[in-house]
Amino acid sequence: MGLLTMPLTPSLRRPSNTVILLFASAVSVVLVFQVWLINGPNIAALPAGHFIPGGRHANINDINNATLGFEKIYVIGLPARTDRRDGIVLSAALSNMSIELIDGVLGETISDKAIPSAEGYKRMPDPVLGCWRGHMNTIQEMVRLNIQTALILEDDADWDVRIRDQLRDFALSVHALTQPLSEDPSSYADSTFPSPKSPGALPASELSFNDLPSTIPPKGSPYGDNWDFLWVGHCGMRLPSKSVKNGAKIPKGRVVHHDDPTVPQKQFLWTVSSVDDLKDGYEDHTRVVSHVQDGICSLGYAITQAGARKLLHSIGLLNVDAAYDLLLRQYCEGSHGRPYHNCLAPIPSLFHHHRPAGSIQAESDISDHGDGYKKTAHTDVVRWSTRMNWDVLLDGKTNWKDQFPDAKQKA
Ligand SMILES: *[C@@H]1O[C@H](CO)[C@@H](O)[C@H](O)[C@H]1NC(C)=O
Ligand SMILES: *[C@@H]1O[C@H](CO)[C@@H](O)[C@H](O)[C@H]1NC(C)=O
Repeated sequence: MGLLTMPLTPSLRRPSNTVILLFASAVSVVLVFQVWLINGPNIAALPAGHFIPGGRHANINDINNATLGFEKIYVIGLPARTDRRDGIVLSAALSNMSIELIDGVLGETISDKAIPSAEGYKRMPDPVLGCWRGHMNTIQEMVRLNIQTALILEDDADWDVRIRDQLRDFALSVHALTQPLSEDPSSYADSTFPSPKSPGALPASELSFNDLPSTIPPKGSPYGDNWDFLWVGHCGMRLPSKSVKNGAKIPKGRVVHHDDPTVPQKQFLWTVSSVDDLKDGYEDHTRVVSHVQDGICSLGYAITQAGARKLLHSIGLLNVDAAYDLLLRQYCEGSHGRPYHNCLAPIPSLFHHHRPAGSIQAESDISDHGDGYKKTAHTDVVRWSTRMNWDVLLDGKTNWKDQFPDAKQKA
């Protein structure tokens, strides 16, 4: 459309030539910017498998950087939920984290034609479709720009102020389970990795976090070279064992971190899983890292470029017939016609939903959480919650509020 040829309102006095010139150059700047917005910045795609530009190798200390050792952090949320954006932006700033906001999608705007479906498909509820599409748009952007690794969070995520220490411990645990052994680079500490020799393999190797085997340092990501997906923000998971279904392809190794001070006592843990393997099998203050079995909630995860391409293929373009977190579960387990992928997770997870004070209806745009008013804010499981410590962080203090101090010794 010819903006320059638009007639000016007749009542206006005829502007001077200088004013016209200034106006014209302002318009062309706007036009150039619009073209840039439509085509995106001119970033040449890197060949697949190419890691960090400049030939720099990953270093475990990169986890301390502004993107927590990933190439990017994306946060998905509906633009209308300005309250949530305010919250995550403040939390990220106070955590020295650099995030990119991605617009969530309203399910009702998604055309039936855009939903990959099997014969006889029944359209999923709009909020479920909106959630799926918001995540797919993020994955699509990551694939388009050839981002090597990204952390993807939903906008109500909360984390401990010690998140970098927790992620470092998690990364070392992932190395122990998936990096080749230094003394014999043809094998792994977990004899059931990369795939169990027999479907009924037992948790062969329960490794202690305080005594991890020496492994080959990763070249690509500080989290390791052999993963697709790290489910760091879930609200329930089983530990892989021979008793759980769909577990045949899943390696059974575990890293057990006893006396992790960032894990609350067991009575304060919360999960939606019907069986709680952590509570049933371990002492207070234990965190376990393992491959993913029965994960639930798409609150936060990290994914590699290869993992993102496979996700776009097997969830973006194949039969969207369940809520997004259940599709992720199928992606990880290799069930319901989707291929198996290499997914790992900490239990309990590191990112959790924050529930602010206020109307209970505001808690979720996906499921109905009922009427009423919630008087106090909280975050499940996170002890030194960033959000519950905003005032402490803003004052530059370190007298953290612990949401789950240990209960006094039982008599
Ligand atoms: C953080 O470290 C990762 C992994 O080395 C790297 O890809 C990313 O660019 C770094 N982020 C920043 C902000 O330097
Ligand atoms: C953020 O960075 C500042 C300046 O380097 C530092 O003083 C502060 O402790 C950091 N905060 C967190 C939560 O890492």
